[in-house]
Amino acid sequence: MVRHLLDLTDLTPTELADVLALSATPIETLGHPLRGQGTALIFEKPSNRTRHSMEMAVVQLGGHPIYTRGDEVGFDTRETVEDITRIMAGYHGVLAARVFDHSIVARMAAVSAVPVVNMLSDRSHPLQAVADTLTMQEDLGPLAGRIVAYVGDYNNVARSLAQACVMLGAHVRLGCPSGYGASDEELFALNDLAGGTVEQFRDPFDAAAGAHAVHTDTWTSMGQEAEKAGRQEVFGHYQVNGGLMAAAARDAIFMHCLPAHRGLEVSSDIIDGPQSRVFQQGHNRMHAARGLLAFLVGVRP
Ligand code: CP
Ligand code: NVA
Repeated sequence: MVRHLLDLTDLTPTELADVLALSATPIETLGHPLRGQGTALIFEKPSNRTRHSMEMAVVQLGGHPIYTRGDEVGFDTRETVEDITRIMAGYHGVLAARVFDHSIVARMAAVSAVPVVNMLSDRSHPLQAVADTLTMQEDLGPLAGRIVAYVGDYNNVARSLAQACVMLGAHVRLGCPSGYGASDEELFALNDLAGGTVEQFRDPFDAAAGAHAVHTDTWTSMGQEAEKAGRQEVFGHYQVNGGLMAAAARDAIFMHCLPAHRGLEVSSDIIDGPQSRVFQQGHNRMHAARGLLAFLVGVRP
């Protein structure tokens, strides 16, 4: 059966643990499972971390990455998503795409003869969550029983992070303004996933209280630029700064998927201070991508 990664929930908790183990496995041990194969990396939106980490991970696994802009293939404008996918699946061992509309990667997966990887959609960012949990494990050890706070917009990054953390047995505390949080239905589904729990608060201090890791992300995601001014007003009290970090556990770490906006969702002293793990987290994107790609083509720890 061809395995895809559109959402973290495409993996079982045990499989997520396997992906994390592979991500921590030395490159030499993984070998070259993509030898002689291409990997299509299609981007409808800009990227630094995802493009570079995926290109390098493919090379490390012996494959050949081909970067393509979304407007070059033209999903449903130049040709249908299904035609693009079926053709590319004949050239490549893996297809990966960063899209505005999650339904594009779902349609790709429905017809692809090779694994499809979601490199960020409006719904989720699973590769980021693998790197986030890998980074937290490096600092905190196993995440079971740990408290992970996410403060800000319940977006693609927050959703995948919450899924990954619950699957690994952590207690997730979301701090989101009204209208920008997880729905009750989604909170119920998250709590049903496995070992951990998810609670949502309006007050960011309630979310951060006692947390071992405090995450945030931009208040305005790619594609939401027209809402920027309104969002800055809504999220004004949700900045991660010294005051908020003081509510967390004494040795809490700060995390952000990047790109960051100093003075908005995070203060400079926190993101550039000793509690910050953002560069370790960004570098772990490459190790997480390598572990995930190896898993999808059949490597097991
Ligand atoms: N975190 C992340 O996905 O960064 P890029 O948008 O630079 O890929
Ligand atoms: N939530 C952000 C993440 C960027 C990596 C966005 O979608 O733009």
